[in-house]
Amino acid sequence: MKRILTGDRPTGRLHLGHYVGSLKNRVRLQDEYECFFIIADLHTLTTKPEKTKELKDNIYQMVLDYLSIGIDPKKSTVYIQSQIPEVAELALIFGNLTTVPRLERMPTLKDVMRDADIQVPSYGLLGYPVLQAADILMVKANLVPVGKDQVSHVEVTREVARDFNRIYRSTSEESKPTSEVSSQVLPIPEVLVGEIPTLPGTDGAVKMSKSAGNVINLSDSPEEVEKKVMGMYTDPTRIHPTDPGHVEGNPVFTYLDAFGADSDKQQITKYQELYRQGQVGDIEVKKYLVKVLNNFLDPIRENRARYERDPELVERILKEGTAKTRTEAQKTLLEVKAAMKLDYFV
Ligand code: TRP
Repeated sequence: MKRILTGDRPTGRLHLGHYVGSLKNRVRLQDEYECFFIIADLHTLTTKPEKTKELKDNIYQMVLDYLSIGIDPKKSTVYIQSQIPEVAELALIFGNLTTVPRLERMPTLKDVMRDADIQVPSYGLLGYPVLQAADILMVKANLVPVGKDQVSHVEVTREVARDFNRIYRSTSEESKPTSEVSSQVLPIPEVLVGEIPTLPGTDGAVKMSKSAGNVINLSDSPEEVEKKVMGMYTDPTRIHPTDPGHVEGNPVFTYLDAFGADSDKQQITKYQELYRQGQVGDIEVKKYLVKVLNNFLDPIRENRARYERDPELVERILKEGTAKTRTEAQKTLLEVKAAMKLDYFV
């Protein structure tokens, strides 16, 4: 079975943007792929080395987010990055297969430095994509479902894997170049981005993100959802409900499209027409969106409440997932070192 590896940094609650960008794909692909979901706590050190006290609680909440949206621990593996020491060794090896300017040019580096108010990147922050490559290649993932912002990191992973395979191709394989595929120690992973690669924020910003404070979390209560939606940015050119309105680029309509159930489609189309003609007010459409979002979130809330009542189960899922992943990591590391001829005197 082909494999998936993807995951998140445990910096806070997961939100609707994560859902459409990546989580939805993960849930959908669980039967088709053997899935590994990483809680990338080591990656949080790259911007917030002092915030380690919050990690434990954030990790717990993130597992609840995963389980409540339908990540099924019977099918998929959830694990904690920092409990797999092999990843650090792999990252150290891979750090020699990419260059400093390559990492300095990462578009994410600039963004992260701006958001975290960092003037000079640390060695760790510069190496962020290298650690991510180690995560992905450690389980020999074939597919990486991520949000659009992570695509450039998977590209680095592909380059590292290609370079590794080329440099450390075994000599016996070298003489028979036709067997190129079988000589690969590391598979080259594909990236998969969700149907809605970036969900706008409630404030109309192009992207929903925690740092911008414009998110609706998967764990928000019905009341929080209502409050956030009723305060949402809509069409700035529209002063009165009788003005013709814009549907395109209006986040209220983007959310309706993204989260409306099939049974909502007809009503959504009707609201779009009325809105364009200036025959329905923002308040009415927003109230409808509150209903749509809460219908979407209600089953997620129920699942979350169920798992919240059983913290021991949640802990067991994490422990078993981490143990299973570590076995895979150890296996890959041995293969990697053997390919490098670093397996002397063992
Ligand atoms: N960098 C990812 C993010 O911030 C999290 C992550 C760490 C990840 N390792 C990964 C994602 C490996 C996919 C694969 O969202």
